[in-house]
Amino acid sequence: MLLEKIPARADTAFRADVLSGLASRPRAIPARWLYDHEGSAIFEEITRLPEYYPTRTESALLRDRCEDVAALVGPGRAVIEFGSGSSTKTPHLLGCIEPAAYVPIDISGEFLRESAAALARDFPTLPVIPLEADFMHPIVPPDGVAKLPKLGFFPGSTIGNMVPLTAVNLLRAMLESLGYGSMLLIGFDMLKGREVLIPAYDDAAGVTARFNLNLLHRINRELGGDIPVDAFRHRAIWNDDHSRIEMHLQARADIALTVAGERFEIAAGETIHTENSHKYGLRDARLLLRAGGWAPLKEWTDPKGLFAIILAEAQPPRTAP
Ligand code: AVJ
Repeated sequence: MLLEKIPARADTAFRADVLSGLASRPRAIPARWLYDHEGSAIFEEITRLPEYYPTRTESALLRDRCEDVAALVGPGRAVIEFGSGSSTKTPHLLGCIEPAAYVPIDISGEFLRESAAALARDFPTLPVIPLEADFMHPIVPPDGVAKLPKLGFFPGSTIGNMVPLTAVNLLRAMLESLGYGSMLLIGFDMLKGREVLIPAYDDAAGVTARFNLNLLHRINRELGGDIPVDAFRHRAIWNDDHSRIEMHLQARADIALTVAGERFEIAAGETIHTENSHKYGLRDARLLLRAGGWAPLKEWTDPKGLFAIILAEAQPPRTAP
């Protein structure tokens, strides 16, 4: 029986994305599948690598510029965090803006409840209302939060994982969720030289390689695959036309493999594209925000210009010049 080969827990969306991604040219599997339990743990390791500057640079910005942010945001807002994950950058923000409530949104309920509980302990008087949802679609703010002024929070340069069309769709969905008059604090990783970007995504200790290759292990684990993982190598490529780092898995030799009962042949040198990380200039970031309905109010960057956090406001559209 064919079905016996496929573990019962196999997520049907994962299987569909992997099978169609391996069959398409160029071969590509959506980046969200990198973040299973193991992948999320390896990503945490990445954030501590000497070469991986984004996390520590953004955290320092949030810590050092929090008073400036607070002066513009004011007290009494509900902070809505999109894709809160482990919420490691949130305490900086919550500690200085005097929020009225905190609503972390994440698709993974397990992570969400753990981090919400930890934050509720650190901020005992703050109402923490976790929302298990896919933030790519508009959400309905929970009762008690609907009438409060709102601040969306989207750190980590997660916006950089999306192609511009998807990024704009997300910004518009956030606008629909939060409403006019709301604010958004969002992190963008800045455009910079390859000599900094490539090592950040292909580190000397091989942690990012492990993160990328874990996708193949996950396919083997969850979809009954027989992929010879050692026959692939991690590649980080700068695509200048698209202004992005791309992660690929490249076949070291001709490979035949089976996933969920389907056979694929991958020639030596061919790649499977697994992630994009777009890099923005400040003008690019402002234009992207405006395209999504958000007017930039103020931006903060570190002295080296590696990373930016931008505060924007949802203003009703004005088409006249
Ligand atoms: C979590 C999407 C911001 O693009 O820098 C890090 C993911 N991938 N190293 C990024 C990632 C490889 C990261 N984001």
